[in-house]
Amino acid sequence: MARFHTLPVTAVDRLTDDSVALTLAVPPELRAKYRHAPGQHLALRHTVDGTEIRRTYSICSPAPAPGSEGPRTLRIGVRLVEGGAFSTYALKEITAGDEVEVMTPAGRFTLDPAPGRYAAIVGGSGITPVLSIVTTLLAREPQARFCLIRSDRTSASTMFLEEVADLKDRFPERFQLVTVLSREEQQAGLPSGRLDQERLTELLPALLPVEQLAGWFLCGPFGLVQGAERALRGLGVPRALIHEEIFHVDAGAAPASVSPAPAHSSVTVRLDGRGGTWPVRDGESLLDTVLRNRPDAPYACKGGVCGTCRAFLVAGKVRMDRNFALEPEETDAGYVLACQSHPATEKVELDFDR
Ligand code: FES
Repeated sequence: MARFHTLPVTAVDRLTDDSVALTLAVPPELRAKYRHAPGQHLALRHTVDGTEIRRTYSICSPAPAPGSEGPRTLRIGVRLVEGGAFSTYALKEITAGDEVEVMTPAGRFTLDPAPGRYAAIVGGSGITPVLSIVTTLLAREPQARFCLIRSDRTSASTMFLEEVADLKDRFPERFQLVTVLSREEQQAGLPSGRLDQERLTELLPALLPVEQLAGWFLCGPFGLVQGAERALRGLGVPRALIHEEIFHVDAGAAPASVSPAPAHSSVTVRLDGRGGTWPVRDGESLLDTVLRNRPDAPYACKGGVCGTCRAFLVAGKVRMDRNFALEPEETDAGYVLACQSHPATEKVELDFDR
């Protein structure tokens, strides 16, 4: 069950003009709770003028070794989003010695280290979870190789340059880096420009034996992830080998719920072992219904992006506004995003514990 704990910030490292990495210390009694898989994220919460804001940030540090007590520290990457209340606070106010409220790790954009060849296509801050994935994989699995294809505007705006260069030094035989800058010509390497579907369709077969790869990790803005997925599908890569995480979808862009819920609809919920049934107000999401009655319900973005509000639909039907978080096999298995769901039947039953 997702829970918030207060963790001390032990370091704030500036990565670029508009991004930092925060290091958080995990006290011994909480380490098991913050055990994470490579690629997972943390939701942070902060209250501004009486309003609680939450935002998820991917963990960039490697996952703790299996059998260990859990991580002693967690490092996350934060990039300033224009007008973003949380990232402004994180970049301009947080200093070492402060405390922040941090949810236990969540997210399914993860890799279970195993032998084989893997690749990632990332844009901007999309490098953050992939840094944890590639570092954990190469350190733990000597029979694994990884190709990182990253796209940024300029080298000055590229997050984690040093950490990625370090991977090249540590694993010269097993780590391949391809950088494309959209607004700067590089002295060596690929010409500048965008990494879109057309360019990837040409580039990928020249770089890699595409059909031999065991997994693809796509992370970044919506357009890049969508273009990369189309390129891979066009090259014959099965959907099941493609893992996606989208950053920066404007939460305000969610379409309003158009069709009203059936009259007198209600939601029955199981959450942290306890149940309840409550009426759903017209137009509100099932998450909002639950939160009015159970403020401990898990959520972070409320925008269909982070997947923190995932619940299993036990009975009834729902209509989801949008979904950038659940993989097709999760929706096929019956999972929904509570923050995007509205009742399509009079009775709906959700289980947050499954
Ligand atoms: S809270 Fe992020 S997807 Fe629902």
